[in-house]
Amino acid sequence: MEQMPYRPEMDTVMTQPTPAAALRSSTTTSEVVQSDWRQQLPTLRGERVTLRQLRTSDAASLFAMLSTEEVARFISPPPTTVEGFERFIAWTLRQRSGGTYACFAVTVQGYDTAIGIFQIRELEPGFGTAEWGFAIGSGFWGTGVFQEGATLMVNFAFETVGVHRLEARAAVKNGRGNGALRKMGAVQEGLLRRSFLRNGEYLDQNLWTILDEDWLLAKYIWEGSIQ
Ligand SMILES: CC(C)(COP(=O)(O)OP(=O)(O)OC[C@H]1O[C@@H](n2cnc3c(N)ncnc32)[C@H](O)[C@@H]1OP(=O)(O)O)[C@@H](O)C(=O)NCCC(=O)NCCS
Repeated sequence: MEQMPYRPEMDTVMTQPTPAAALRSSTTTSEVVQSDWRQQLPTLRGERVTLRQLRTSDAASLFAMLSTEEVARFISPPPTTVEGFERFIAWTLRQRSGGTYACFAVTVQGYDTAIGIFQIRELEPGFGTAEWGFAIGSGFWGTGVFQEGATLMVNFAFETVGVHRLEARAAVKNGRGNGALRKMGAVQEGLLRRSFLRNGEYLDQNLWTILDEDWLLAKYIWEGSIQ
């Protein structure tokens, strides 16, 4: 989601892995632990990417990864300090407990360092329609981390949360964001004119959607074809 639901005013309160070129060709086999995600997010394991519950200790690496200009330019401004990320993480845990939102840390094989996030929020009670968003440290762009993490996240949305329609908004100027969504099989449904205020300018956004029936059919065909 271009516009992260988190706002600082809502609050009351490393070792960096090397981008692995080998991630490019990885195939995702997700191991989704069924659980009440509102109590504790499951750990979603792919071949080389793992999505897990955020922890307060992720604040420093997320600050380093997500507050650079190239990552933040087309998304809502991330927190500007490590303490701000700590408050953001605490907020994500409260929203998860409330059952309206979930945010995963992205980690890569062999490391527990958070290099990005995937988040989802309900757009209507019951999560029938939801919006997802993501941001990954730029050192990991083009490595396959996004695609593997996104596959885990979309599986979680449809199979665990029970989402029917998954929306995403991407500023038209955000080439990588739009390319990433297209790659995931999202359908571009429309243009949301002047819908996102960033740096004093109202930006147009593309609306992208994935339906559960399309995703699950594609997954069924894919899994059938590789036996
Ligand atoms: C969005 C993000 C997570 C995607 O991760 P990524 O590793 O860059 O994504 P990928 O490289 O796997 O996919 C991006 C695709 O867009 C393509 N692309 C890059 N620039 C593009 C452009 N200007 N126009 C169109 N497509 C473009 C890439 O070629 C790639 O497709 P390919 O793998 O088929 O070649 C990452 O770029 C990011 O964190 N961006 C900053 C945060 C952000 O904008 N988040 C919101 C997105 S809505």
